[in-house]
Amino acid sequence: MTDKKNVLVFRALPEDQLARLQAAHHVTVADPRKEPEAFGAALGTANGLIGSSYNIDAALLDAAPQLKVISSVSVGIDNYPLAELHKRGIVLCHTPDVLTETVADTVFAILMATQRRVVELSNLVREGRWTKNIGEEFFGTDVHGKTLGVLGFGRIGQAVARRAALGFGMPVLYHSRRPVDLAAQAPELQGRATHTPLDELLSRSDIVLAMLPLTDATRGMIDAGFFARMKPGASFINGGRGATVNEAALLHALDHGTLRAAGLDVFAKEPLPADSPLRTHPRVTPLPHIGSATHETRHAMAELATTNLLQVLAGEKPTAPYDTAAA
Ligand code: DGY
Repeated sequence: MTDKKNVLVFRALPEDQLARLQAAHHVTVADPRKEPEAFGAALGTANGLIGSSYNIDAALLDAAPQLKVISSVSVGIDNYPLAELHKRGIVLCHTPDVLTETVADTVFAILMATQRRVVELSNLVREGRWTKNIGEEFFGTDVHGKTLGVLGFGRIGQAVARRAALGFGMPVLYHSRRPVDLAAQAPELQGRATHTPLDELLSRSDIVLAMLPLTDATRGMIDAGFFARMKPGASFINGGRGATVNEAALLHALDHGTLRAAGLDVFAKEPLPADSPLRTHPRVTPLPHIGSATHETRHAMAELATTNLLQVLAGEKPTAPYDTAAA
């Protein structure tokens, strides 16, 4: 007797991880964006789904009556209908921890690039416009010693704060519902990171970093009022989720307010639409959602997601479940 289950892979996995799944289960690989028919056909008998970057809704779950587990190759779970999954008893797993340091590296890279105008000035060289010594009009703004305000002080927010405080001597202010127990979670940030009310954080920070998950509470929360309360001449960095920002308000703050610059790895709609002014705005450094995109980390995420899926299908507790009951 076989207890092989049906696994539907909806975003390409590295070969070694696909092989782990194939050794244990019947596996179909079908990307719904490229092969909607094959994906739809496999859903009806799928016991497990694994993939990322695809919106799964209640209608899709209706078409997957055998589904027991969704294993997301991401830490963010905003593509999944949490209450529906909970109601249907479908386990959701994700990939925390393995990407923390890499996303923090990316965020610090955007922060540096934004303050020092790295991409803009590199393009100046590439395009043959470096014909005389760089003048004041191309100067950047210091990073070291400046105050960093962090919204969303989870694992990644803390990892960025460590880089800022320990590497660049930056005082860190953070805002979260409750103060973080730094002694237990991040002892090296004791005396260096301060829990601060939002308005005070906005008015004191030279650089405001959003590392917020996308929830009903955070959708669009970074709006015109938010930018208006930021310190004049400060910069805004987003490494969390694009839809937490009202992009029209962001553009207005850049063009008509006092926002100096923005560094963005995430957008309300991805890939960024061709007509989005954020693509070419001179004071925006846009990146194509590369927070976790290194060979090592994307492989580690795929490996953890594969392990999670195999564990649930074997009746075991997964390494990294997401608590859908809390939704
Ligand atoms: C995540 O894992 O949620 C990152 O944003 C990469 O998609």
